[in-house]
Amino acid sequence: MASQLMPLELIDRCIGSRIQVIMKGDKEFSGVLSGFDDFVNMVLEDVTEHDYDGTTTKLSKILLNGNNICMARHTLNSNFVLSRTDCGDSAGFCLAAALKAGYHCSALARTPSKLSASMTAKGVSQETQDRYLTITQGDIRNSEAVERTLVINGAVVDTVVSGVGATAIKFVFSLYPMVLADETICRDAMTNILAALRAVTASSTAQKPLLIPVSTTGIPAPGKPRDIPLLWIPFYKWLLHSPHVDKEVMDSLVRQEVRKPESERAIRASVTVRPSFFAGSTKGWQSLRVGTDDEPARGYFTERQDVGEWMFEKLIKGEPEREWVDGGVHLTH
Ligand SMILES: NC(=O)c1ccc[n+]([C@@H]2O[C@H](COP(=O)([O-])OP(=O)(O)OC[C@H]3O[C@@H](n4cnc5c(N)ncnc54)[C@H](OP(=O)(O)O)[C@@H]3O)[C@@H](O)[C@H]2O)c1
Repeated sequence: MASQLMPLELIDRCIGSRIQVIMKGDKEFSGVLSGFDDFVNMVLEDVTEHDYDGTTTKLSKILLNGNNICMARHTLNSNFVLSRTDCGDSAGFCLAAALKAGYHCSALARTPSKLSASMTAKGVSQETQDRYLTITQGDIRNSEAVERTLVINGAVVDTVVSGVGATAIKFVFSLYPMVLADETICRDAMTNILAALRAVTASSTAQKPLLIPVSTTGIPAPGKPRDIPLLWIPFYKWLLHSPHVDKEVMDSLVRQEVRKPESERAIRASVTVRPSFFAGSTKGWQSLRVGTDDEPARGYFTERQDVGEWMFEKLIKGEPEREWVDGGVHLTH
């Protein structure tokens, strides 16, 4: 006989997880379910209230009357992060913040054991990792592994964060002496992610994912103003020439994608994150200066943890601001 799951048992399984609750009338809430009773009155924490006029309000805790609940669902907010295996990566800090907040996450890593150790070092308990994190072993150029990472429990993830970048450089005797060991990693990664997204969203009616590639400053979109301080120009144009050529191609692939008609896109939207040079120690994500493609925040340095946590707070947990969508957001200290 097929096993049955009773409604209260199903809700019980969501304790500690982020859920979306649609109320009678014109309100919707998302938050972490911390308790409920036999009448399905619910207590949510870390809540965002969405009104249908588009406004959102943050609340630390609320009690919802079960009589007014139309529908509750485990949110498809699982995000997909390509993450470095040591402790110093921006996408990894974003992943750690999402796991700690109870988001189901799927990550592609070349060495899963090292990613898991990195999450532990970032304060994510083994219990949380076991409950919320699925790691797929693979290379970003392996289409099958990327497609597998994009689907959790049969549903396509709703946010894709890519922090893929070259991890080794070499010096050559030429005008531009510093060259990436893997010179096409960012463009290949983006080509493969978009192709995989196209494949997994083709048969799905759910909304397509938001894509968050981590790019860089120093390569503003065509027609947009300079986004680095004047003193940085020689360093960026000369020493960082090789990584920037690769990232320019990656950025243009994303721009081409969001220019397509909605029905032909593999994503619903993109927010390209442009951090300044990673150096120094964390000052807190709240202390970052934030700019747009039209009005970039020019600065010398930023830091991986602050950028990763900012991405989680502002782009995954919160709604991206309209001026960042299908463009870039510039972050610097
Ligand atoms: N350095 C800077 O100052 C700076 C400033 C702004 C932007 N950025 C760019 O921002 C992005 C994120 O930087 P970050 O420093 O946070 O990242 P990072 O620590 O350099 O990590 C890059 C990640 O890419 C992964 N990767 C590389 N090749 C891969 C492949 N073939 N398949 C799967 N994964 C692969 C690496 O995996 P493994 O862990 O397996 O090696 C690593 O996790 C990068 O593109 C970087 O260039 C850098």
